[in-house]
Amino acid sequence: MNRPKVYVTRQIPEQGLDLLRQKAEVLVNPEDAPVPRAQLLDIIRDCQGVIGLLTERIDAEFFDAAPELKGYANYAVGFDNIDVPEATRRGLPVSNTPDVLTNATAECAWTLLFSVARRVVEADKVMRSGDWPGWGPMQFIGGDVSGKTLGIVGAGRIGTAMARMSRGFGMPVLYTSSSGRKNEVLESELNARLVPFEELLEQSDFISLHTPLTPGTRHLFGAEAFARMKRTAYLINTARGPVIDEQALLQALKTGEIAGAGLDVYENEPALTPGLAELDNVILLPHIGSGTESARADMSVLAARNLLAMLEGEKPETCLNPEIYD
Ligand code: DGY
Repeated sequence: MNRPKVYVTRQIPEQGLDLLRQKAEVLVNPEDAPVPRAQLLDIIRDCQGVIGLLTERIDAEFFDAAPELKGYANYAVGFDNIDVPEATRRGLPVSNTPDVLTNATAECAWTLLFSVARRVVEADKVMRSGDWPGWGPMQFIGGDVSGKTLGIVGAGRIGTAMARMSRGFGMPVLYTSSSGRKNEVLESELNARLVPFEELLEQSDFISLHTPLTPGTRHLFGAEAFARMKRTAYLINTARGPVIDEQALLQALKTGEIAGAGLDVYENEPALTPGLAELDNVILLPHIGSGTESARADMSVLAARNLLAMLEGEKPETCLNPEIYD
């Protein structure tokens, strides 16, 4: 029997590829860059399975180009790049990689939080410049963390992990929920409080974003939100860039409307809003939230297991449209 043909749009850790190779013919994009769209559509025309990234649009055009496709596995937990209703309409399963990157992404949010509050990048630059005159009582004074209020926007898996990690710092935790449902773990373990969005903006010293990108969350943080935040507050984003209106953020950072921001994701990746990189009160990371050895290896294994299940006509573990199996 012919082995199914699978395309992987970018080099991913070997663990997942090894698993795929046991049952399929696997072609991996050899370049360390996204495949141009026209080339991608050409390559997938005789593929039964594809593993792709958040940088690829998985839409009607993609599905039309791959008439033999049995399923698509996203190498990411976020899936705003996939037209899930379109896949469902065609009876095609699609999956993502939740859970395995939860701690890595929450740790990245904490890295940003501490780095921006304690001005780590600015201070590091001075040390490298050779211009440090020695200890000074007024140098690089930053924001306090312990005892400050942490606001979590989107208390799903990653938001919950971020909040739980605050325990050692004795931070009161506020959170919002798009469903309006209480997060029992946060309420019982941390005495966290579910509050209206406006209250979270006004009372938090650190706001960390963990909401998916949807039409309702696009530009959730714009001029109006920044005006409500404390002038001493910091904004952390490891979710999706377009949740923040980057132009409005630039103004808020420039005018001191908020104290600082730590960003791992951007509105128009890989482009940065001009002016952002010149500011000292923002820390900029290149979308590395899930970038740890174990998270990336586990993502590759989960994506491979999901795709292999789809190729065999079975429901993948973390299916985004399980209703197609009803
Ligand atoms: C995701 O998984 O959605 C991240 O943005 C990339 O790991």
